[in-house]
Amino acid sequence: MAVRHFLSLLDFTPDELRALIARAIELKALQQQHACGEPLKNRVLGMVFEKSSTRTRVSFEAAMAQFGGHAIFLSPRDTQLGRGEPIEDTARVLSRMVDAIMVRTFEHEKIERLAAHSRVPVINGLTDLVHPCQLLADMQTWFERHGDIAGRTVAWIGDGNNMCNSYINAARQFDFALRIACPEGYDPDPRLLAAAGGRVELTRDTQAAAAGADLVVTDVWASMGQEEEQARRERDFAAFQVDAAVMDAAAPESLFMHCLPAHRGEEVTAEVIDGPHSVVWDEAENRLHAQKALLEFLLAD
Ligand code: CP
Ligand code: NVA
Repeated sequence: MAVRHFLSLLDFTPDELRALIARAIELKALQQQHACGEPLKNRVLGMVFEKSSTRTRVSFEAAMAQFGGHAIFLSPRDTQLGRGEPIEDTARVLSRMVDAIMVRTFEHEKIERLAAHSRVPVINGLTDLVHPCQLLADMQTWFERHGDIAGRTVAWIGDGNNMCNSYINAARQFDFALRIACPEGYDPDPRLLAAAGGRVELTRDTQAAAAGADLVVTDVWASMGQEEEQARRERDFAAFQVDAAVMDAAAPESLFMHCLPAHRGEEVTAEVIDGPHSVVWDEAENRLHAQKALLEFLLAD
């Protein structure tokens, strides 16, 4: 059978994604009893990080350790990747030594090339296009509070970035309505948007996007690699902050999510991220459990 990769939510069927979320919730309970066993004993995950990370690195490393396996952190600074060894050759070599490869990089096309030359599963730990592992955690966080998200309404406020694109894919796979409020010039990927059809609406008005929404989500205004655009983005995004007025427009029981790291006073006020609607700490923790379910799905016998 061809090796399965997880480069985007679209690589798995809706049923597979729902099964992963259910398993993640089970694994969370098992971990609390220290009873998740060692399904990946002696297995090794190679982790290539071309951008910074706290959550993704720690959650994958902890996941492999808790499952009886091991993870190796690889950065371009001290591997041959940083000295120009082709990504295809890196994929061929790593995949003869490790059981799976996680990659965080810039161009999405790079992870596709790596996967095309890998004998083992490749997992997307964030590219400029999408961040699918974060969506597994976000969906787990929703499901454990409210059950299935099908038929609900999600409001995305802010940049049409990799997280926004991932929510567009999630709207398709999990069958929810998505309203995106972003400034002109910062729209999400047009192909992903077109493929999502009528499930996704684009507006320039945060109140219109948030009205009655069950879940409100945002992310930084300047992503990794866009640091030089920070000042311009602060001006362009000034009207796209998630504040109390936005949360007041949403449904009374609405949740607030943010993949983190967050900038209080920019994309979200302290009042919201530290307030009663916010589930960002569970969301961060669920990276661990959701990725354990993913690793088990891709690797366990
Ligand atoms: N949310 C997320 O991916 O965080 P890190 O950049 O810390 O991995
Ligand atoms: N959009 C952000 C997400 C960080 C987890 C970035 O790409 O930097």
